[in-house]
Amino acid sequence: MKARRTIASLAAMLTCFSMAAQSNTLVIDAGAKGTPIQKTMFGLFFEDLNFAADGGLYAEKIKNRSFEFDNPLAGWDVIGNVRVMADGPFANNPHYVRLGYPGHPSMLTAICNEGFFGIGVERGHEYRVSVWARNSGDRPAEQINVQLCLPGTMGEEQAFCQGVITVDSPQWKKYELVLTSPLTSAKAEFRMILMREWRAHTPGQAVDLEHISLFPVETFNGDANGMRKDIAEAIAALEPGVFRFPGGCIVEGTNLETRYQWKNSVGSVENRPINKTRWSYTFPHRMFPDYYQSYGLGFYEYFRFAEEIGAEPLPVVSCGIACQFENEPHWHSDASLDELQPFVDDALDLIEFANGPVDSEWGRVRAEMGHPEPFNMKYIGIGNEQWGEGYPQRLAVFVKAIRAKHPEIAIIGSSGPYKDGPDFEYLWEEMRALGVDLVDEHYYANEQFFTENAARYDSYPRTGPKVFAGEYACHGVDGRKWNHFNASLLEAAFMTGLERNADVVHMASYAPLLAHVEGWQWRPDMIWFDNLQTMRSCSYYVQQMYATNCGTHSLPVLMNGKIVAGQDGDGFGEGLYASAVRDEVNRKYIVKVVNLAYEPKEITMKFDGLSRKETLDGTVTCTMLHSDDPYAENTIEAPDTIVPVESALNTSLWHKNTFTTVIGPRTFVVYTVQY
Ligand code: AHR
Repeated sequence: MKARRTIASLAAMLTCFSMAAQSNTLVIDAGAKGTPIQKTMFGLFFEDLNFAADGGLYAEKIKNRSFEFDNPLAGWDVIGNVRVMADGPFANNPHYVRLGYPGHPSMLTAICNEGFFGIGVERGHEYRVSVWARNSGDRPAEQINVQLCLPGTMGEEQAFCQGVITVDSPQWKKYELVLTSPLTSAKAEFRMILMREWRAHTPGQAVDLEHISLFPVETFNGDANGMRKDIAEAIAALEPGVFRFPGGCIVEGTNLETRYQWKNSVGSVENRPINKTRWSYTFPHRMFPDYYQSYGLGFYEYFRFAEEIGAEPLPVVSCGIACQFENEPHWHSDASLDELQPFVDDALDLIEFANGPVDSEWGRVRAEMGHPEPFNMKYIGIGNEQWGEGYPQRLAVFVKAIRAKHPEIAIIGSSGPYKDGPDFEYLWEEMRALGVDLVDEHYYANEQFFTENAARYDSYPRTGPKVFAGEYACHGVDGRKWNHFNASLLEAAFMTGLERNADVVHMASYAPLLAHVEGWQWRPDMIWFDNLQTMRSCSYYVQQMYATNCGTHSLPVLMNGKIVAGQDGDGFGEGLYASAVRDEVNRKYIVKVVNLAYEPKEITMKFDGLSRKETLDGTVTCTMLHSDDPYAENTIEAPDTIVPVESALNTSLWHKNTFTTVIGPRTFVVYTVQY
C-alpha cells in the first residue's frame, strides 16, 4: 500500500486509551478449515458516469474529436472559414471539418479544442497529435500549425509548444506529430491553424480534418489507445478481484437506442459511433450537455485493462429493457420477447469476442485488435437494475441460450435497484427459480443501514445463487452525501459482514468508481480526479484495506459466543465489528476490527484452535484508518488528509496465542499476524 504515514508511537496512543477501555475478547477460530474466499471478492464497478471514461480514465484529451456530437462543433471554437462536412472516410462517423481560405490574405482559419474542462499537460511529457487529413489537390502540400496554448496567459505568446503537420495528399491519410510540453497546466487549449501561406490562396482550396486526437505518449502499461496513467494506477493499487463494466444505467440506456452496444465499441477507434449518455441530462441540476460516449474506451480496452490489473472481467449487457427509472410508468422502451434475439446474440457474440478462437467471427475481431489469446471471461451480467415480471421473462431466454452454448459462463442476474422490499424479494425468488449463478444487489443507503446491516448476509440461504454486492456506498443524510470519513468507517464496519459470509458473498464493489471534480453527476465516488491529479477518498482506502488483505479463507470470529456485528449484547462489543481471515498463500492471519464507538475499546484477540506446536508470537502489524473529524475528507488539494497508518504492536504482548490491545474510537484497524 503506497500512501501511508508512519506515526511515532501507536503504542503510546493505545496506552492512553487503555485507561478508559472495556474488555472485549475476540475469539478467532484459527484452527478452523474456514470458508474459501473467492478471488473476485473485492472488486470494482466501472461506469462512464462523472466523465469517468471520456475526460477520465480514457487518455484522449480532445472532446468531440470526430465532430459527431449533436452540435458537431461542440468543444471546438472556430475562426475563419470552417465548414462541417458529412461525407468523411469513416462510415459510422461521417462528419469532419473543411478549413478553407478565410476570405482575405490577412485573415485566419483555425479550430481550437477546449478538451474536457481544459486540457491537462505535464512538463516534459510527450503528447501525440494525430489527425486524418487530405488537401484539395491544388498544391503538393498544405501546412497546419498545431499548438498547445494557454489562452489566459500574461506571457507574450499563448502557444507554449507547437509543430507543423504537412498534408501532402488529396487522399485521406493519418498524420502524426509528437509535442513535448515545457510546462504543466490543467487548462491548456489545442489549436490547429492553417498556416500563413494560405493567405495568398484562392477560395476553392481547402484542407479536410477528421478524428483529431491528442493522446499522451505515456499511458498505463504503455497501451495504444490506453488509459490515463495516474488514474489507472490508482485503480490497479486496489488489487481488484473483479472488474464490472461498462455500467450501470448506461448499459440499459434511456431508450433501447441509447443502450450500450458493445459491438459499436470495438474495431478501429475512428469508426466507433458515438453514443449519447443519459448522464448528460439525468440530473438537470448537474447537467453536462457536452457529455457523450466516444466508445474510444470500448470493450476491447476494458477486457485488456481487467487483464492488466489482474481482475476477472465482468461485462454487463442489456436484457432488452431500457432504464425503467427513465421510462416507467408512462413510457416504455423494451424489446418484446419476439424481438429479443438480437440482444441474446449480443451476449453470445460477446462471449465469442472474449474467448472464441481467432478463426471465429468475433474472436477474429479481438485478434485483429491485438489480442489473439482469449480474455478468459468467466462471468456475464444480464441487465442492470431491472424490476417487474418483464425482467425474469427476458432473462429466462438469455439463461437458456447461454447455458446451451456456454455452460462454463456464470450468469449474473439482478435483484433490482432496491436493497429490500417486495420487488427485491420477488426478484430473488425469480433468480433462484432461473438458477442464475449470482445476483447483483445494489444499496446506496444511509448511515443507519450500514451500521445495522453487518449481519445482513448471516441469515441468507447457503444454497442457490451467490451474492454480487455490485453497487453500494454510504450516502450520508442531512446533506452529508460526500466522501467523508464517517461514511467510509461505516462501510468498513458493514464489510466485515461481507467477509464473514464469504460462502454467500462472492463479489462486492463500491460504486461509483471515478469522478471528475468539475464534471460529476453523482457522489460519493471512490476516486476523484482533475486534469492532472487523482485523489483517493477514505472509501478508497477502506476498499484497499480489504482487497489487499483479502486472505484465502474466512474464519469464524466470535465475542461472547456471538458474531461481532455492532450488537449491544451484554454490554460488550457495542459498536465493534470484526471479521477474520487466513491467508494460506502468504501465511497470515488477518483480523479486521471497526470501532464505531466514541470511546476506545480494549480488545483481546485469542487465536483459538491451533495445535500446541502452532505458536503465534510474531509482530502484529496494524494498519489503521482514523480521523478525529468524522466529516473530514480527502481533497485534490489535500489528498493525504486521511490515509492508512501502519505500525507494529509490541510483540511481548503475546501470551498463549492471545494478545490484548486497544482500538481507538471511530477507527478501522487491520491486524496482520504472520504464522
Ligand atoms: O452508480 C450510479 C448508478 O446507480 C448506476 O448507473 C445504476 O446502476 C445505479 O442506479
